[in-house]
Amino acid sequence: MSDAQTITELAKRRGFFFRANESYGGVAGFYTFGPEGAALKRNVESAWRDRFTVREGNDEIEAPTIAPEPVFEASGHLDGFDDMLVECGECGESHRADHLIEDASDIEEAESLPVPKVETLVAEYEVACPTCGAPLAGRSIEEFNLMFETGIGPGSGQRGYLRPETAQGIFVEFPRLKQYARNKLPFGITQIGRAYRNEISPRKGIVRTREFTQAELEQFVDPDDDDPPLSRVADVSLRLYPATEQEAEGGGYVEATVSEAVDDGIVTSEWVAYYLGVAREWYDRIGVDMDRFRFRQHLPGERAHYAADCWDAESEVSGAAENPEDPTDGDWIEIAGFASRGDYDLSKHATHGDDDFTVFTQYDEPRTVERAVADPDMSVLGPEFGGRADDIADALRDLAGRDPGAFGGETVTVGVDGDDVTVDTEVAGFRIETQTEAGEHVMPYVIEPSFGVDRTVYTLIAHAFGRDEVDGEERTYLSLSAEVAPTDVAVFPLVGDAALETLADEVVADLRAAGLSVAHDDSGNIGRRYRRQDEVGTPLSVTVDHESVETEPTTVTVRDRDTTAQVRVPVDDLVTALGTLLEGEGSFDRLLANYDRVDTDVTRS
Ligand code: GLY
Repeated sequence: MSDAQTITELAKRRGFFFRANESYGGVAGFYTFGPEGAALKRNVESAWRDRFTVREGNDEIEAPTIAPEPVFEASGHLDGFDDMLVECGECGESHRADHLIEDASDIEEAESLPVPKVETLVAEYEVACPTCGAPLAGRSIEEFNLMFETGIGPGSGQRGYLRPETAQGIFVEFPRLKQYARNKLPFGITQIGRAYRNEISPRKGIVRTREFTQAELEQFVDPDDDDPPLSRVADVSLRLYPATEQEAEGGGYVEATVSEAVDDGIVTSEWVAYYLGVAREWYDRIGVDMDRFRFRQHLPGERAHYAADCWDAESEVSGAAENPEDPTDGDWIEIAGFASRGDYDLSKHATHGDDDFTVFTQYDEPRTVERAVADPDMSVLGPEFGGRADDIADALRDLAGRDPGAFGGETVTVGVDGDDVTVDTEVAGFRIETQTEAGEHVMPYVIEPSFGVDRTVYTLIAHAFGRDEVDGEERTYLSLSAEVAPTDVAVFPLVGDAALETLADEVVADLRAAGLSVAHDDSGNIGRRYRRQDEVGTPLSVTVDHESVETEPTTVTVRDRDTTAQVRVPVDDLVTALGTLLEGEGSFDRLLANYDRVDTDVTRS
């Protein structure tokens, strides 16, 4: 069984995630998170919110998941959010052409190639339909838009789309959000929520689905004025895979601190570099294996339509590089993107929408500036041009701001509704005015760290997955960090003894009252119960055994998932001892130092 199959099988058996709607045959690309997976995902979201919203001083919103068509006309998704589709002439199955090329060759990131090139490669590599084996050479490749379309309201209604990224819900509300931020840049808005992409061929379980969860931060900055607090992460080490290295023969990683990456011009945006540092620390904190993690820069043809530059956080999830000599080898998946979106989104919404998407920033001191203005004489324009006079006057005012030199002659010409209209410069009322200005309207730039929550969950499971031998038996376990593990503690009473069961109920109630997530498991022998909890990554297990009630003070055993070491802890100390461990303050060694170690596996009885 491949690692991916092992994880998928474990995920299904233990209730992490499984294909949705299987009673009805299922539809590719939709997954349900079961109780363990939903808890793990929720914990990842909470950890993200803690780091990227609360600790950064940002604000979180929740926008609708459906928006009307004009939003996506403006955002560019209607025209530019396509994948390459090739349909098999024999069986009619649809496939993503760039993925077929990647599977058939050494080419990586084939989506960065133009369609005609991919058509040529399909023939060159004799790519066959993965479903029926028929050759695909000669089949044309279509650009397939990934948005799910829907009708809003009954009848003809209004056309809408399920959002392909949570980001647009932030951009369209910018005019209100800037007021909430008291018109002060920089500020950041976050959102965690579902997004939808009608993938041509969803694959790899929850890695590529049609409905998924994003955690996105839109950082709005003044392009001329705002710097990130780089010193906070200046010394964080990054493993970078720049575009130049990807394109070079035998190219590899560049290891650099955040400040080196900026100083050496490897990461050109300081804001992007800042968030690479923050993200690297966060991934480490939640349990991503830093030996299987990197930041890869997008190749020029790979960037989304809105991105000036983009780095992806990627994790390796197969654990089996074909070429162990090459650290870039392996099954790498994108788990986050860090894009410089410039003013692309806000200026598009400013053009298509009805609101002001700029921020008025105050100067420290008012400034005196010279401005070219036009003040057309309507008593001349009105009689001469009738109903068009207002439009001509507006065009003259606009031209004065854009191109004062146009007013240098005796006449000036402006375009109005496709016609050139010429008027005397004197009638245009052109002059240079001295004005005092308190500030200026700035179109903010956007830096976007965008995280795929489902893929992060998958990575955590893949990186936590381990096998060892305990008491002569093979065991599989997930060494999930306590912060994200679905369950904090499992409590096992030896069954058949009412006193032990009563004590176990009390222990469970106390731990739950202290805010811990507790599983109460009284089925099967204790060894089997340990294995169950090990496989879902529960860091600690508490067993209530005969000795618990036979001695004073009343005690229970506490077992560490990863080492399987056990200590006997007085019940009165339990909440404090476990709470401290789960909050990451100290390791199990601290319990081993403070309490009696249990050397025999009394629990196998
Ligand atoms: N907002 C970036 C993305 O959805 O990929």
